Amino acid sequence: MKFANRVESLPPYLFAEIDKKRQAAIARGVDIINMGIGDPDQPTFKHIVDAMHKALDDPSTHNYPPYQGMKEFREGVVKWFEKRFGQKFDADKECVSLIGSKEALHNCIFATIDKGDIALLPDPAYPVYKSSTILSGGKPYVTPLLEKNNWLPDLTKIPSDVAQKANIIMVGYPNNPTGAIAPLEFYDEVIAFAKKYDLIVLSDNAYSELTFDNYVAPSIFQAKGAKDVALEFHSLSKTYNMTGWRVGFAVGNEKVIKALSTVKTNIDSGVFKAIQRAAITAFDTPKEIIQKNISLYKERRDVAIKGLRELGWNIKDPIKGTFYLWLPIPPSFKASTDFASAMLDKCGIVVPPGSGYGEYGEGYFRIALTIDKKRIEEGILRMKKEGLVFAQACSVK
Ligand SMILES: Cc1ncc(COP(=O)(O)O)c(C=O)c1O
Repeated sequence: MKFANRVESLPPYLFAEIDKKRQAAIARGVDIINMGIGDPDQPTFKHIVDAMHKALDDPSTHNYPPYQGMKEFREGVVKWFEKRFGQKFDADKECVSLIGSKEALHNCIFATIDKGDIALLPDPAYPVYKSSTILSGGKPYVTPLLEKNNWLPDLTKIPSDVAQKANIIMVGYPNNPTGAIAPLEFYDEVIAFAKKYDLIVLSDNAYSELTFDNYVAPSIFQAKGAKDVALEFHSLSKTYNMTGWRVGFAVGNEKVIKALSTVKTNIDSGVFKAIQRAAITAFDTPKEIIQKNISLYKERRDVAIKGLRELGWNIKDPIKGTFYLWLPIPPSFKASTDFASAMLDKCGIVVPPGSGYGEYGEGYFRIALTIDKKRIEEGILRMKKEGLVFAQACSVK
């Protein structure tokens, strides 16, 4: 059998690898605490499930959906976007439905990157940006996200000959895996940079609604001139606990929407209409329901941070966005994979090693707050018992 080089050249998909190890540990009878994947543990909100039941009972939802998404869905999107971010979009030309944002990130990179083209990507980052660039025959050029820069890329460090050869720049805040947020001025800078070098900006805003402590995340479209160059991906996955439903949307520059839609039209047949109807209901979710869900994550965040501080981690400010904690591995470990393996083997805790998110993720690991706070407390206890603390010298109470 022969397989395409592009498949052979991909590194193994991080979460699939982690899942294999997790399954093996479960088979050995280990009581696993899974802090690995950002998959909400709470059910989809009831009013959305109810809307789905109703939509399913209507046979008119059972056939192929329109490629770009139902008109009512796109109208629901642009109405939500205007209410949330104060920005207007044309539902027909500047909006498309997505089967979750993961496929769209891939398809949009596929639509914008030719063989040999450079994609300016953050690192560490959601692994799809890099793998889709490689699958498209492009060359990733990574801009490091460093703590000293608040995990924002330093665009002034990108050599101008590289920027000239690049075709896209990818940004994503609130950020997976670092939990960092971006001020609106950052988007101004990105847009100016993109205009200077004729780049398309792809903004991944999957966590826009998952924020804490009264922080409200912006959209890139609140920055002036963004529509000239940008497209933004949104997902219902994390906001409404809908990861399994596979629904999201992109809004932005008409030409980029058209290019993405052209690829999608040729390879998928859209989002199940019943799901689109349920999604329309999701857009009208009362604030209190979302807030209750956020409070749950906030409580877990605070429990985790308190425990980790007691184990010696110097966590200055609690994260303001996403449900991830991004932490340095203890200095006694050389590589993040060694630390992740020790966490699994000694404590039965699954955490992804930072290196899975790129070379600048080395030296870190990520915790997903998608488990009950009691399990987080149990995890902290196991770490303490096994000596998996940040520094031996710290005072562990
Ligand atoms: C940064 C980021 N973007 C996009 C996605 C994809 O989400 P979905 O395909 O469920 O919309 C994820 C999922 O974890 C993510 O972390």
